[in-house]
Amino acid sequence: MKTVDNYNFAGKKALVRVDFNVPLDKEYNITDDTRIRAAVPTIKKILADGGAVILMSHLGRPKTGPEEKYSLKHLVNRLSAEFGTTVKFAPDCIGDEAVALAQGLQPGDILLLENLRFYKEEEKGDPAFAEKLASFGDVYVNDAFGTAHREHASTAVVARYFPKDKVTGYVMQAELDNARRVLENAERPYTAIMGGAKISDKILIIEKLLDRVDNLIIGGGMSYTFVKADGGQIGSSLVENDKLDLASRLIAMAKDKGVQIMIPVDSVIADAFSNEANVDTCLSHHIPENWMGLDIGPTAREQYADVIRNSKTILWNGPMGVFEMSNFSVGTEFVADAVMEATSRGAYSLIGGGDSAAAVNQMGYTDKVSYVSTGGGALLEYMEGKTLPGVAAIERDDY
Ligand code: 3PG
Repeated sequence: MKTVDNYNFAGKKALVRVDFNVPLDKEYNITDDTRIRAAVPTIKKILADGGAVILMSHLGRPKTGPEEKYSLKHLVNRLSAEFGTTVKFAPDCIGDEAVALAQGLQPGDILLLENLRFYKEEEKGDPAFAEKLASFGDVYVNDAFGTAHREHASTAVVARYFPKDKVTGYVMQAELDNARRVLENAERPYTAIMGGAKISDKILIIEKLLDRVDNLIIGGGMSYTFVKADGGQIGSSLVENDKLDLASRLIAMAKDKGVQIMIPVDSVIADAFSNEANVDTCLSHHIPENWMGLDIGPTAREQYADVIRNSKTILWNGPMGVFEMSNFSVGTEFVADAVMEATSRGAYSLIGGGDSAAAVNQMGYTDKVSYVSTGGGALLEYMEGKTLPGVAAIERDDY
């Protein structure tokens, strides 16, 4: 793979696709800057070579055009502080002002373009839009692993306009190396922990994992589809009724393949989806009517932690409960503790993006696990064995 390490950026303008899709609060403060911090080494390498940097990203999923809450201008101060320079901002990613700003860049300068998704052409992968973006740079760097599963103008199509000058950044390289480590060289016992709200997001990865892992731990909202499929009464817990057969099939497949599939035996339940609701604990198969499971229960916590502590490879994607609410965060914290403990004893742990990464960050464990991915969907698709368009566009000469 062509990487930033074997490219000299001296005197060049590098068009860098980053994934700055970061969470912002109501005052537009960045609440988790992991993805920004991750992109710093690539940007510094370009600047150190004597190049200039044009950063492009999406933020959120704007529907019909520009929206204040999705403007990348909210990131400018953070970036300027990081690099000790005033980062320039183009308020329209392809307009005249962007052209002029890009043309005026000197070595050491950084320009941030406004949210690419303010143009529907971005997600459509429109070649004319990609060509306009391409006209800003001499070389294309894709460091947006989190968006590499999208075949968008800036993540894939733009690479066509740089047949000889397209490389991956450090984030992309590190992500692929770490994912491959779990895909190809997993030491046993290998435990996958799958959480989050919906089973439908995770079907393919669960199926694939059943061929690889020794233990498959299930948590989060999707547990209750498994519990119901297993004959349990789940009250008003989240459930995907159209996925009950699938959940039964996955349970049967796990048995056939000798994989221990673990569904929470007990749950922390509440009478409303709120941190202020009444809270209780019960067996997951016997949740009373009008109550819902919002976290794994105390017995499940212990069982899960035990299996995790004895694992040599751990892949974790998705929280065990509604961890943003303090009454339902204990299961996720327990799992994070166990992952950290196993890692300190030599296990390899890969935390897959999104909410599980946020939980690990929130607990200050980022440096205590082996690797925290910046990708959510991208990591899952890669682990499912799919080709990521963002990677193929750099790797293949005929893209
Ligand atoms: C993510 O947050 O997973 C990436 O930035 C991709 O965002 P998307 O799912 O809106 O394409």
